[in-house]
Amino acid sequence: MAQPQQNLMRTLQYSSYGGGASALQHVQVPIPVPRKGEILVKVECASVNPVDWKVQSGALRPLLPPKFPHIPGTDIAGEVVAVGPEVTSFQEGDKVFSWLNLMVGGSLAEFAVAPIKSTVQKPQEISSSDACCLPVAGLTALQGIRDYAGISIDGSSQANVLIPGASGGVGIYAVQIAKLAGAHVTATCGARNMDFVRSLGADEVLDYKSKEGIELISPSGRAYDAVINCTSGISWSTFKARLKPVAKVVDLTPNVKSLATTAMQKLSFCHAQELVPFILSGKAEDLQFLAELVRDGKLRTFIDSQYPLSRAEDAWARSIDGHATGKIVVTVD
Ligand SMILES: NC(=O)c1ccc[n+]([C@@H]2O[C@H](COP(=O)([O-])OP(=O)(O)OC[C@H]3O[C@@H](n4cnc5c(N)ncnc54)[C@H](OP(=O)(O)O)[C@@H]3O)[C@@H](O)[C@H]2O)c1
Repeated sequence: MAQPQQNLMRTLQYSSYGGGASALQHVQVPIPVPRKGEILVKVECASVNPVDWKVQSGALRPLLPPKFPHIPGTDIAGEVVAVGPEVTSFQEGDKVFSWLNLMVGGSLAEFAVAPIKSTVQKPQEISSSDACCLPVAGLTALQGIRDYAGISIDGSSQANVLIPGASGGVGIYAVQIAKLAGAHVTATCGARNMDFVRSLGADEVLDYKSKEGIELISPSGRAYDAVINCTSGISWSTFKARLKPVAKVVDLTPNVKSLATTAMQKLSFCHAQELVPFILSGKAEDLQFLAELVRDGKLRTFIDSQYPLSRAEDAWARSIDGHATGKIVVTVD
């Protein structure tokens, strides 16, 4: 791999919709300059999320990406090497992790500009590879359980929570955070991951290909107060059959059909059993909360696989494949 020339950095980008991993190009581009409210981070690690390749596929067109070529990715950990005008909360040498705005991207590169409003100091007890996994997946799990399902993370919850897709990037955090809340957790995952998901703290685990897994039947006969749905393709009627009379299904992957169901519920003032589409908020205080949980040993990250930037297209392909157990990480060598 050629060394970067001065003021140039190695990065991965794509120039049109579609094409998957093979359409990613290794290029050198100018190192970006941080503006007001931004810092420049020398990226040590970045994690790949399904939304990254969904944007490339055109699923969010014409909004995203805002233009081509696009450097994808939103989750980074690294070291601050420059600060923008009037930035006083960070300085050169700080170890940080950030959620880069999805509109901007830029994580799969040697350097990235990060907004300070979604950046926090990385505790020294946390590795960069663990920290870079937290933004999208950790925030989604936390906000899905606390803000969307309305479950306080204080150990006092009596809720029955179902987490379909518990072995993926979001699911690993969702199971642990629901247990920190005090909830009873029923999880679904593939047969090969059932022991792993139990080790995260799940009380009951269903193989998603079994009859009970397909029908989301709690082995102890529980009805659910909340569902954090980390999969797609489960119908509202399947969920509805397993819910308590008042319950929320947090829908991480809304589509036309599920949005229509949500709209119908709102129009008919049916607020007892709700399907709620989820949108991530990159709040620094939530990143801080996640960092403290990890530092205190209350929340663990599990890394499925790790790739150097020179092979980031393999990380991309692994995510598209949809069978990661935990998070996929790119390290900048
Ligand atoms: N709205 C938002 O802001 C937001 C934020 C974050 C994530 N999301 C979405 O949430 C979803 C989950 O994200 P993620 O990062 O957790 O994905 P991921 O890491 O790619 O999930 C992969 C895992 O899902 C499991 N899985 C696949 N199909 C399953 C099924 N039918 N039942 C149970 N488990 C199944 C796989 O197990 P096997 O290998 O055994 O099949 C694998 O371990 C994605 O669609 C993502 O785009 C949305």
